[in-house]
Amino acid sequence: MRLNQEQIEQFHTEGWLLLPELFTSEEVDLLRREALAIYSEQRPEVWREKDGAPRTAFAAHTYNEAFRLLGAHPRMIGPVEQLFGERVYMHQYKINAKSAFTGAVWQWHQDYGTWKRDDGMPEPRAMNISVFLDEVMPINGPLMLVPRSHNAGDLKASHDLETTSYPLWTLDEETVTRLVAEGGIVAPTGKAGSMLMFHGNLVHGSAGNITPYPRKIVYLTLNACSNYIRTPTRPEFIAHRDFRPIETVDDDSLVQLARAPRQAAE
Ligand code: SIN
Ligand code: MN
Repeated sequence: MRLNQEQIEQFHTEGWLLLPELFTSEEVDLLRREALAIYSEQRPEVWREKDGAPRTAFAAHTYNEAFRLLGAHPRMIGPVEQLFGERVYMHQYKINAKSAFTGAVWQWHQDYGTWKRDDGMPEPRAMNISVFLDEVMPINGPLMLVPRSHNAGDLKASHDLETTSYPLWTLDEETVTRLVAEGGIVAPTGKAGSMLMFHGNLVHGSAGNITPYPRKIVYLTLNACSNYIRTPTRPEFIAHRDFRPIETVDDDSLVQLARAPRQAAE
């Protein structure tokens, strides 16, 4: 899949792009079912909130067929390769739960801040491209983005090991206030199956979810192959070391899997 000129311009100017309902309900129903099955497993890749509710499942493309196909899907890989002008590999893969009633905050941060400091990534030539597995609403902890903040470069950050179960390089209130005064805040919402991509330096975060509506989003972090990480400190299931370019699957591969449910469960 390729972005049109208007979409490319919006990405470069604002630092983010939403493509509503890019995946069909048949495709996304399969992914949602598989995500719930993964969260019910006890495995090191599934991290939990302090109260035990799932927070994120890492590296699902390595142990789940539906997420393997999503991780090599042309609707995900195509736009990022187009913007970087080179092949990409999978740096990180997360299915964030933001569970009903208990989903916790993601503090204000830039993704590249963590990729640089923890993984030794040379340049912000990686980005998150995500698919909503549930409807993302203004009320259930949508991702909040500070438009145009990707132009601010790599900002001073401090390592927060306390606020949640997930260590993160976070920004101070003064920096966020300054950038929000310039760019405002948007919270892209949409039906399940919508795709959101944003620049590695775009400032973002999300509030907790106290509603009965879960907000699952799956994030692929795709890194330009030439920008492979040099000094990783995190486990391999968080910051991958397989730097080979992703070979895409057929566009209808998720539909084929959804229509063969017995094989999917095996
Ligand atoms: C992230 O910033 O990596 C995730 C934030 C969220 O899912 O709300
Ligand atoms: Mn992030």
